Amino acid sequence: MTSQNLARTIEQAREAALEELRGLTGEEGLEEWRVRYLGRRGRLTAALRSLGTLAQEERRVVGAQANQAKALLEESLAQARRRVRESRIAGLAQEERIDVTRPGRPVAMGRFHPLTRILREICDAFESMGFQVVEGPEVEWDRYNFEMLNIPRDHPARDMWNTLWIDQEDDEGRQSMLLRTHTSPMQARTMERVKPPVRVIVPGKCYRYEATDATHEWHFYQVEGLAVDEGITLANLKGTLYEFARRLFGAERKVRFRCDYFPFVEPGVEMAIDCFACEGAGCRICREAGWIEILGAGMVHPKVLEGVGYDPAVHTGFAFGMGPERIAMLKYGIEDIRLFYSNDLRFLRQF
Ligand code: PHE
Repeated sequence: MTSQNLARTIEQAREAALEELRGLTGEEGLEEWRVRYLGRRGRLTAALRSLGTLAQEERRVVGAQANQAKALLEESLAQARRRVRESRIAGLAQEERIDVTRPGRPVAMGRFHPLTRILREICDAFESMGFQVVEGPEVEWDRYNFEMLNIPRDHPARDMWNTLWIDQEDDEGRQSMLLRTHTSPMQARTMERVKPPVRVIVPGKCYRYEATDATHEWHFYQVEGLAVDEGITLANLKGTLYEFARRLFGAERKVRFRCDYFPFVEPGVEMAIDCFACEGAGCRICREAGWIEILGAGMVHPKVLEGVGYDPAVHTGFAFGMGPERIAMLKYGIEDIRLFYSNDLRFLRQF
């Protein structure tokens, strides 16, 4: 090869190499390019090798040109590598950037269900008056739900509680197991276990075979109370429940007791409070009555005391039962009992 030809070959290889290099964006492409031009069998390397065939004088001139070309390509390669690496890092930073100044994501805060709140409030009020909280089974025997509460089999008083029965028959082929219709079975269960004095408060779920509407649920809570001791009178009942009404509905509340019937108390009463919304003048909440009934109560029936082995000549007591859903509806102004159990967050988040 003549020195002129070789010089041109070097020149062309250099131009082609630089031209190609400008279009490369990936590290792999750069490596291929290096092998193609500067590698052992690369275009420029081949040209350098041919220098040996030239006369000494020509070799010096063309050799210098070749070395310059080689240095230029190496330097351009190093630059291209830097360029590719930097743009890769910039891309990563774009994708994975952490902005430490951004506000955090809010953590969802839980809250108590309105019924949990009211149950706690009711229990707290009685606990502060010396009552102890106990709980009992929701699947109950006829015996505790009715018989020991002075409601015999086939007695019409059973119609007061529309009962959900469990398929379970006793020796006489009668249904004997049910979902408790009230928390009163815990009266007998408690007295069976302990001697007087008794002071218990029983929150718990109850069930009735009933159609639902704005004021009726087929499952609901009750809170039962029972106090038995020597010399307990209706005055103790009134004083205790008056204190409770003031704790829940305000210190200025008045209470009203009227006769009512429950087979397991004698006498039986219903307690009302004067309407806290209109102060007794009559409004939508009290249905123009000025009074709101909030619970049933009475003196424990002697037959119930006898049934658990107490002597009614020595021990007397009072019992009461209330519906916390109703209390919560009054207190928080809730118009439909079904809201408690429909799990609508728009409702629940208000508490
Ligand atoms: N258990 C009664 C009911 O469900 C309420 C009650 C309890 C009444 C205790 C008097 C005494 O209606």
